[in-house]
Amino acid sequence: MRYAVTAATGQLGRATITALLDEQGTAAGDVVAAVRTPKKAADLVVRGVVVRRADYTEPDSLREAFAGVQRVLVIPGTAMPAQRVPQLQNTLDAARDAQVRHVLHFGLVGTHPDNGFAIMPYLLYAESALRLSGMDWTLLRNALYAEPILDWVDDIVRMGTIPYPTGEGRHAYASRRDLARAGAAALTTDGHEGQIYELTGPAALTTRELCEAVARATGARVEHREATVDDYVRACLQGGMSEPVARFMATLYDPIRQGLSAACTDHVERLTGRPPASLQELLSHGR
Ligand SMILES: NC(=O)c1ccc[n+]([C@@H]2O[C@H](COP(=O)([O-])OP(=O)(O)OC[C@H]3O[C@@H](n4cnc5c(N)ncnc54)[C@H](OP(=O)(O)O)[C@@H]3O)[C@@H](O)[C@H]2O)c1
Repeated sequence: MRYAVTAATGQLGRATITALLDEQGTAAGDVVAAVRTPKKAADLVVRGVVVRRADYTEPDSLREAFAGVQRVLVIPGTAMPAQRVPQLQNTLDAARDAQVRHVLHFGLVGTHPDNGFAIMPYLLYAESALRLSGMDWTLLRNALYAEPILDWVDDIVRMGTIPYPTGEGRHAYASRRDLARAGAAALTTDGHEGQIYELTGPAALTTRELCEAVARATGARVEHREATVDDYVRACLQGGMSEPVARFMATLYDPIRQGLSAACTDHVERLTGRPPASLQELLSHGR
């Protein structure tokens, strides 16, 4: 069987290709890395992976990339939600034309019409489009990545708090590596047609508990202080982010505050046979 992973030069895409080769034992020649920018994929060519150009805005490139492929794992790109819709349409049309049998899609936990995250309209569309595609489908809903917290540790220590505007809401942050391992397992093993997986870390934590975890890992004083959206935006601006991007990113925390993305499941372990890393492990031992 031949498998394709789209956006394979991205961080989640690379982690998925690594999991396919190193954990699932998939032959490199059976893995198609479908990428917008092939020159960024030289390392994948070295590993024997089949690299093909596939730009979501160019239907012909997608059709050619999916030739001879039976299962495709779609990792959405980084475009604004309204642009992602035709990009996914192109991807599903090309997959159907290439006679792909099964499409999997990485989305987000807490996908629900009441969820205020700015990308949610795309995610609701994507899940419906896969279900109506006429191909077998699997929905992989990812928890928020733990990595932004790991990358932010120095600033968190400097601020003495994590200004996430989440109230007492909980979220089970997960590493990209664990999400990718689960995606690779769902792509290459059988029996996932029509399934929805909520891929989460092992514990749903409040921001107060995140602060405690960072304090334990660093020995620094990091305390929870109730943060507003404006507090979060101010912290992002200090880190060099523009205000529109910071306000967009702040909507990520709406569903946590709303209690819409507190899911904590064993789906990563069910798919991979191994529990996902906890935030404390990631903070203490890296990714
Ligand atoms: N769960 C979370 O916390 C979380 C956080 C952030 C993002 N996400 C979602 O996770 C996905 C990937 O995350 P990531 O960390 O891997 O992001 P990333 O490292 O920024 O990678 C983005 C990838 O999208 C590709 N891409 C962009 N436009 C494309 C197009 N028109 N056609 C084909 N490929 C295109 C890029 O290709 P190039 O190499 O050519 O630029 C790159 O490979 C995104 O859908 C994002 O919305 C989730």
